[in-house]
Amino acid sequence: MQLYTRSTGTGVPVVLLHAFPLSSAMWLAQREGLAGGCRVITPDLRGFGGSLLGDDEPSIDLMADDVARVLDAQSIDQAVIGGLSMGGYVTMAFARRHPDRMLGLVLADTKAAPDPEPVKDKREDIARRVLEDGTAVLVREVLPALTGRTTRQSRPMVHGRVRGLVQAAPTAAVAWAQRAMAARQDSFETLAALKVPLLVVVGEEDEISPVADAEAMAQAAPGARLEVIQRAGHLTAVEQPEAFNAVVAAFVRSVPGGAAPTRG
Ligand code: MLT
Repeated sequence: MQLYTRSTGTGVPVVLLHAFPLSSAMWLAQREGLAGGCRVITPDLRGFGGSLLGDDEPSIDLMADDVARVLDAQSIDQAVIGGLSMGGYVTMAFARRHPDRMLGLVLADTKAAPDPEPVKDKREDIARRVLEDGTAVLVREVLPALTGRTTRQSRPMVHGRVRGLVQAAPTAAVAWAQRAMAARQDSFETLAALKVPLLVVVGEEDEISPVADAEAMAQAAPGARLEVIQRAGHLTAVEQPEAFNAVVAAFVRSVPGGAAPTRG
């Protein structure tokens, strides 16, 4: 599977993996704001945006392998790999499956724990209803918690943009990703075994992956850095892009081997 990818900038390669049920469109402010200091690479995960879904069984591991192929296609040996929420699950799978290809990790608004059974059931329910009735169920049941209360109350344009991205999600990809997320494994051991720096970012108003989840990830990895973004909910990178970009840019500057050679 060759993912459709948008890239900007030059320097240290930084891959950013989007949340569910969005696409690389969510990283607009990162492609603009980080490109001065690094090469920002934002793929559409399979089935979303411009990427095909294919006919493989749902799997976060497969999504991580797709990302490794993005690096291959761009002749990049190692990169900072970052992901927000579902993108974070893929990032942790990438860390497990391709540890030698990472310069550092950014985990934003995500969690290392697998889903409890009721959450798995809910995901299957959403997958079925989306396939039957379209994305209206996502607008009703997923959209409300994607942004924080500050954004919902005082930044309707941002909330509206997220709503548009949710409505545009292809239903087959939504169902596939829900099933892939339900089957994902615990990643705490992966974090404990990390040999590269980890930055954990979380919005103080995140209702989906709250601050406690971020603290647990940061505690699992020796030397991890935790940054809490004020007045942001689950989509920190969209809700408070300047604050998000500042902590990511500082992290990328601090990563050893940042000036990684490219292959070929
Ligand atoms: C996301 O933002 O990617 C989702 O909230 C992840 C999830 O459903 O666990």
